[in-house]
Amino acid sequence: SWRMDSFVEESIKAIREKVGSGRVLCALSGGVDSSVAAVLLSKAVGEQLTCVFVDHGLLRKNEGDEVEAVFGPKGPYNLNFIRVNAQQRFYDKLSGVTEPEKKRKIIGEEFIRVFEEEAKKIGAVDFLVQGTIYPDVVESGLGGESAVIKSHHNVGGLPDYVDFKEIIEPLRDLFKDEVRKAGLELGIPENLVFRQPFPGPGLGIRIIGDITAEKVRIVQDADAIYREEVAKAGLARSIGQYFAALTNMRSVGVMGDERTYDYAVALRAVNTIDFMTAEAAEIPFSVLQKVMSRIINEVKGVNRVFYDLTSKPPGTIEFE
Ligand code: XMP
Repeated sequence: SWRMDSFVEESIKAIREKVGSGRVLCALSGGVDSSVAAVLLSKAVGEQLTCVFVDHGLLRKNEGDEVEAVFGPKGPYNLNFIRVNAQQRFYDKLSGVTEPEKKRKIIGEEFIRVFEEEAKKIGAVDFLVQGTIYPDVVESGLGGESAVIKSHHNVGGLPDYVDFKEIIEPLRDLFKDEVRKAGLELGIPENLVFRQPFPGPGLGIRIIGDITAEKVRIVQDADAIYREEVAKAGLARSIGQYFAALTNMRSVGVMGDERTYDYAVALRAVNTIDFMTAEAAEIPFSVLQKVMSRIINEVKGVNRVFYDLTSKPPGTIEFE
């Protein structure tokens, strides 16, 4: 792809010119955009870059370790990677909070606070990297649908809180597929480059109602099984976005001779062009049955599994 080829080359040149000998700070989430931005920056300015990865305890199963394996000191990149394990801090802040917008706000604000503390430890920085891509620019500028319906964290959240001179947004002109191409060009592993979207507030908006470590464990395990079976069925790349969520509902069931009173997990899978509208994906019933039976057998605390058929609109893709 000649176009991304020259994009990478030209960006590196432009970044070097802009940054000079300045120090650069990047918030790395492990998502495609921030990963591509971070690697691009590291190719351009090497040791001048520091990347901070905040594990808020609302990531998918093993995700924190996976991000660390690729971007940490044992991985192939030189990112001066700092992982902050802030799980308990987030759980404490979220304890007992049920209102969706409040949960989003708490997660977003706590994220900034943690990041800011790390930035202070690092000392003076000159530039802050943001993985903003073109659709983000359009959406926040025009007050896009999601900006109104749900308060997104990601876009433009950090700048007020960290002391720096300038923002660098190397992906600002790119569409998602171009970001992926740039990622491949930079040698980022395919499984990361083609990762499905994952919201900033993470599992926090896939657990209806209040969040506990136990509920996070349930949704992580159910989701891991779901993703494993979707991949086994060869469907991973053909579904736009899919995940398990924890309904806050418990119901009566029977396991062996025992009555159970456990949680219901919802499976969501959608096809979409732009995430503004979406339709439930037609996953073969046999695959859904396999996922259901594995979740109920392997995940303690779950005795019922639903498949969400709702389109967007009127549903949203996430649950909160
Ligand atoms: P909804 O639930 O609004 O989701 O239909 C549309 C798309 O946006 C993602 N999403 C988010 N992404 N921060 C993000 O970075 C957020 O706060 C957020 N909320 C939703 C969602 O995963 C879907 O792809």
